[in-house]
Amino acid sequence: MLRQLRPQSLRSPSRLVAACTRAYSIQANAASTVKLQDIDPSKLSILETTTPKELVPPTELVFGRTFTDHMLSLEWTASSGWLAPRITPYQNLSLDPASCVFHYAFECFEGMKAYKDTSGKVRLFRPTKNMERMNKSSARIALPTFDGAAMIELIAKFAALEKRFIPDARGYSLYLRPTMIGTQRTLGVGPPGSALLYVIASPVGPYYPTGFKAVSLEATDYAVRAWPGGVGDKKLGANYAPCIVPQLEAAKRGFHQNLWLFGDEEFVTEVGTMNMFVAIKNKETGQKELVTAPLDGTILEGVTRDSVLSLAREKLAPEGWIISERKYTMPELFEASKEGRLLEAFGAGTAAVVSPVRNISWKGNLVECGLRPDQEAGEVAQKMLDWISARQYGDEEHEWSYVVPGQ
Ligand SMILES: Cc1ncc(COP(=O)(O)O)c(C=O)c1O
Repeated sequence: MLRQLRPQSLRSPSRLVAACTRAYSIQANAASTVKLQDIDPSKLSILETTTPKELVPPTELVFGRTFTDHMLSLEWTASSGWLAPRITPYQNLSLDPASCVFHYAFECFEGMKAYKDTSGKVRLFRPTKNMERMNKSSARIALPTFDGAAMIELIAKFAALEKRFIPDARGYSLYLRPTMIGTQRTLGVGPPGSALLYVIASPVGPYYPTGFKAVSLEATDYAVRAWPGGVGDKKLGANYAPCIVPQLEAAKRGFHQNLWLFGDEEFVTEVGTMNMFVAIKNKETGQKELVTAPLDGTILEGVTRDSVLSLAREKLAPEGWIISERKYTMPELFEASKEGRLLEAFGAGTAAVVSPVRNISWKGNLVECGLRPDQEAGEVAQKMLDWISARQYGDEEHEWSYVVPGQ
């Protein structure tokens, strides 16, 4: 049976999925053989800097360029579990050149934000989701897992300590980057016996300081970002470096981002490092449908994706919209665009919240995505930005917003 499938799998990975009923998943949790001692937030020590940094003027902030005064770190060893968490001045790491992270890419990370509300309180947005995702990523590469609630408590304390870095204006936030690396000194390929989990923070400004700017995409089929049974649905650093060359290729031809396709059917998966949404009018019924790819292992489980879906079900479905997590293809978008049924398209991710798409270059065609020349965002993208921001900044009190306690 396997012998018969193999040649076909080489020709067409997507066909293999159809032909094979095996679930493409590894029970990565089982990879951790050691009973872990979990994180103890009560053991946190804080060593504050004696040389606070000068704040960068808000309008000069560049994403991920400047960092706050401190960092949060926790070490783990297979024999002792998680050691006491520490907040220290932001500093270089000192690692053995044989550390396994440098050789076999034992690294995973998260991207999340802290916001300051109008009363000056720091809030995290859906941090539980990021911790859940980080645990899935770390477990998949045999790094240790941890108690998400304990980690949120620590991240909240860290974010509150760095509050002065978040400008008091709408659109600004503190980007938080939890990172885990395997630190064991070994060239042997095996599960790391030690790890470091650290969090750094970078103040960021609004993604669109002068309003939305719709982007042009290049549908990318010559390089594949993720595939069934792979790790594209995990936030591993190793997934990102290989996307830079296709990104440069697209940029060379005048496109802002790659639209990642998969398989002979040309399934649409993600856009750059964002989840992709399209709004289509049904050919027969005229009913509007908001579509995004399903969580089948070929896309990252975006927190913003989940927020968009949830808001769409709450606010658009009652207006008659169908909200779908389903596979869709470039030929389907091409046809809808030609017939004037492709209403809009946008990416969704933590950095921009939503990023409207003007058009997609595909097989010599420029597939227009429903925007008028004078328009930079469709109706749904604009609404989503407003609805999600209201919950991030606490204008609308909602369970997605985690108010840092003790402020
Ligand atoms: C590949 C990829 N897809 C989607 C996303 C969006 O995820 P989120 O909404 O959690 O930021 C990211 C986020 O960074 C990403 O790297």
